[in-house]
Amino acid sequence: MSTILALETSCDETAVAILRGHDLLASEVASQNFAHEPYGGVVPEVASRNHLVHAPRLLAASLAAAGLALDDVDVFAATSGPGLASSLMIGASLAKGLALGRSKPYLAVNHLEGHLLSPFFGGAAQIEPNLSLIVSGGHTLLVEVRGVSDYRILGRTVDDAAGEAFDKVAKMLGLAYPGGPEIEQHARSGDPARFAFPRSMLDSGDYNFSFSGLKTAVRYMLAKRPNGEAAVADICASFQAAAIDVLIRKTVAAARSRGLRLVTLSGGVSCNGELRTRLKNECDRARLAFLAALPSLSTDNAAMIAFAAAWRFEAGFVSSVTDEIDPNLALA
Ligand code: KG4
Ligand code: ZN
Repeated sequence: MSTILALETSCDETAVAILRGHDLLASEVASQNFAHEPYGGVVPEVASRNHLVHAPRLLAASLAAAGLALDDVDVFAATSGPGLASSLMIGASLAKGLALGRSKPYLAVNHLEGHLLSPFFGGAAQIEPNLSLIVSGGHTLLVEVRGVSDYRILGRTVDDAAGEAFDKVAKMLGLAYPGGPEIEQHARSGDPARFAFPRSMLDSGDYNFSFSGLKTAVRYMLAKRPNGEAAVADICASFQAAAIDVLIRKTVAAARSRGLRLVTLSGGVSCNGELRTRLKNECDRARLAFLAALPSLSTDNAAMIAFAAAWRFEAGFVSSVTDEIDPNLALA
């Protein structure tokens, strides 16, 4: 049973986790939201400087929480892409240095594979074939999964990622960053039918998404309407309903067309309760099994990177410390 220490620094969360077998011994995350909030988005230089401060601290905290020393670690893993180059570099360099210094294997992990496998965390004997919907701040992907590292991308966003649309609409409404949780909260008291926002590409005949038109429709509407508390709640509810409608329809259609009996959901936007509930209900109706990542493993964390590393290590993958990070690393 291997002990894996993983670092995740692809964007603005610094995270370290330790996994033994499939047991999570430690998972530390330092959010930098406060540092980026004034800018309404992630500033790469601010992110990498914060990673430098947080990573060594979280490394020590993780080892202490797990009751382990560095010498007890069998494999050092890190996210090698996709993400911000200056951020990826911090975690990957640290993991490579630790692996090199202790003559232990280094394993590079694709951030998206971390999200994609995260619904299986906690006891899955194998990765069942599934249709994976990954919805995060940087990506919106529909992936046919046949097993570890056997992926085929069926669809993706042609413009904004789903989470990015939540963040941008929240910013227009003067809500805090990140916008997804803010929109969800305001939507609870809003009327999702008040504004008929577009369901872009619903009948495009493929599995791609577009969220830019939806975002623009909100902007036009805001210019026409008073910005009262009720209007904000109704806008949030109507926007959220439109975004979720398209995600659900395409996900279920893709699973059916590929003959997949299981739908999985991961990425930061999968924290959204409305998305989880409605996708689950739709899967029930279509007689599809449904598995979502735990909310605590949905936004960026290192546990999912350690977990993906474990599956990859078991499958015989190792990386070289000379492997470079790749900000545009593809999943398939
Ligand atoms: O996976 P993640 O932590 O980072 C990326 O890899 O991008 O996802 C962050 C995204 C942000 O856009 C955030 O607004 C969104 O996930 N998010 C949500 C919710 N919680 C986080 N979107 C909708 N509803 C939520 N409850
Ligand atoms: Zn992510």
